[in-house]
Amino acid sequence: MKSISEGLSGFTEKVARTAVEMPIQRSLTASTPMACSYPLSHHLSFAVQKKIQLARASLCKKLGDTGFNPDSFDIVPITLAIPGLDPAFQGYRLVQISDIHLGQWLTPERLNGVVDLINQQNPDLVVITGDFISYVLEPFAGDLADSLKELSPRDATVATLGNHDHWVGAKGVRDLMRRSDVIDLSNDVFTLTRECAELHIAGVDSIMVNQDRLDLVMKKLPPKGPAILLAHEPDFADISAKTRRFCLQLSGHSHGGQLVIPRLGTPIRSYHFRKYPLGMYRIGDMVQYTNRGLGTNLFWTRINCPPEITVFNLVDEQSNKKWNMKRPITNSAKVY
Ligand SMILES: [Fe+2]
Repeated sequence: MKSISEGLSGFTEKVARTAVEMPIQRSLTASTPMACSYPLSHHLSFAVQKKIQLARASLCKKLGDTGFNPDSFDIVPITLAIPGLDPAFQGYRLVQISDIHLGQWLTPERLNGVVDLINQQNPDLVVITGDFISYVLEPFAGDLADSLKELSPRDATVATLGNHDHWVGAKGVRDLMRRSDVIDLSNDVFTLTRECAELHIAGVDSIMVNQDRLDLVMKKLPPKGPAILLAHEPDFADISAKTRRFCLQLSGHSHGGQLVIPRLGTPIRSYHFRKYPLGMYRIGDMVQYTNRGLGTNLFWTRINCPPEITVFNLVDEQSNKKWNMKRPITNSAKVY
């Protein structure tokens, strides 16, 4: 266990250091393509990781270890009270997935099965909190777009990008999002309406590669109506909570550490998931939820930390009191 922990932690920190070294040119608006240049060390490291990913994916295909098993995935139901939620949104079903990392453990076959599981939850909205792919986009872009296109929420599928999406090329990822009708919420806001009521879904682009522009999001966000923020990296919650404008932040990035010790959580913590690596937290007025993700990093192993599909049932605070829940914010998830 010690060696796995050290290996994962060291790997993540090495990649993070590479990201920190990158000279970044910030975009002026959410719709402007991000311009990033990377140092040679990043390209070399990425090339090795890409080779490892493709070699292992090829081996698993030869061994026939690519199939979908619904029991591999944990569907986590959470009833969550949203302050100021209009009765028109009572019982709104928001399904979150994260960190698909298609082409590592999560194969196209497995992703198709996940899409069926999501559709069976009758979602109103599907949110994807970044890292669609890992080290290589092209052999998987078509499969990814085809799978995501099969999602059938009542309202929309929305997403933000993660650090890996930028490392392989954000333009390519955004192209496949467009092809599969996934709305890009990088530094943007999407407002849902029911009758005259509004529920805002906002997103910041990846924090790890310095593309987050919370200032733009705050300018675009209408002054009234509850707001939920998507941010790939969970520790951003310390910044977003200070705005006191968001009731909930949804994140991924950590994969839950890929190792969970019962009653202790995960010992695997690294850049941008040191404080909030797994599950639910309360930060001031805001709830932070970190989804364990669907895929894996280069270590294709998860220990007591299955891939997760989170199904939020949004209710107003009055209903929450009526139902006399023992926990004020959730009836099913552990609060760390
Ligand atoms: Fe990530």
